[in-house]
Amino acid sequence: MLLRYKKSFEKIAMGLLSFMPKERELKKLQQTMHIYDENPDWQLYLWKKGEDFVGLLGVEVSEHYFTIHHISVNPSHRGEGIGHAMIEKIRQIMPGKEMHSTDETRAFLQKCPELEKETGKQQF
Ligand SMILES: CC(C)(COP(=O)(O)OP(=O)(O)OC[C@H]1O[C@@H](n2cnc3c(N)ncnc32)[C@H](O)[C@@H]1OP(=O)(O)O)[C@@H](O)C(=O)NCCC(=O)NCCS
Repeated sequence: MLLRYKKSFEKIAMGLLSFMPKERELKKLQQTMHIYDENPDWQLYLWKKGEDFVGLLGVEVSEHYFTIHHISVNPSHRGEGIGHAMIEKIRQIMPGKEMHSTDETRAFLQKCPELEKETGKQQF
């Protein structure tokens, strides 16, 4: 189940975000969380499996497209299809918008069956 992030899930979200290769340092992680907290176009989602939050998806929404900036799954739950399921869900949440990737998310998104388009822009 894909749920919108709330401040009360901050610690679990930071833990999941830290699996992104460029988000390992605490300072960078805090800066990224700040962007999601302050900017309504930047939206964080968490994937709940049973009682646990095991996946994170971070998107930036524009008028005609959305960009996947962050995607991560708890290592204990990788290979179960959660990454693909999060992409499928976000596409349902953003009907009619193209899905774009960044340098950080392109490798996995290219494995997802849906078409994605490269914007060429850097993250931050
Ligand atoms: C990328 C990630 C979110 C995938 O989550 P997941 O729930 O394990 O993915 P799924 O189970 O839906 O899909 C598994 C498939 O994705 C592939 N995959 C996993 N990570 C990948 C990556 N970084 N680049 C390309 N493919 C990747 C697996 O090899 C597997 O492929 P297969 O079906 O051909 O065997 C997870 O591996 C993760 O959290 N990685 C660390 C964070 C990260 O690097 N995110 C950016 C990825 S570009």
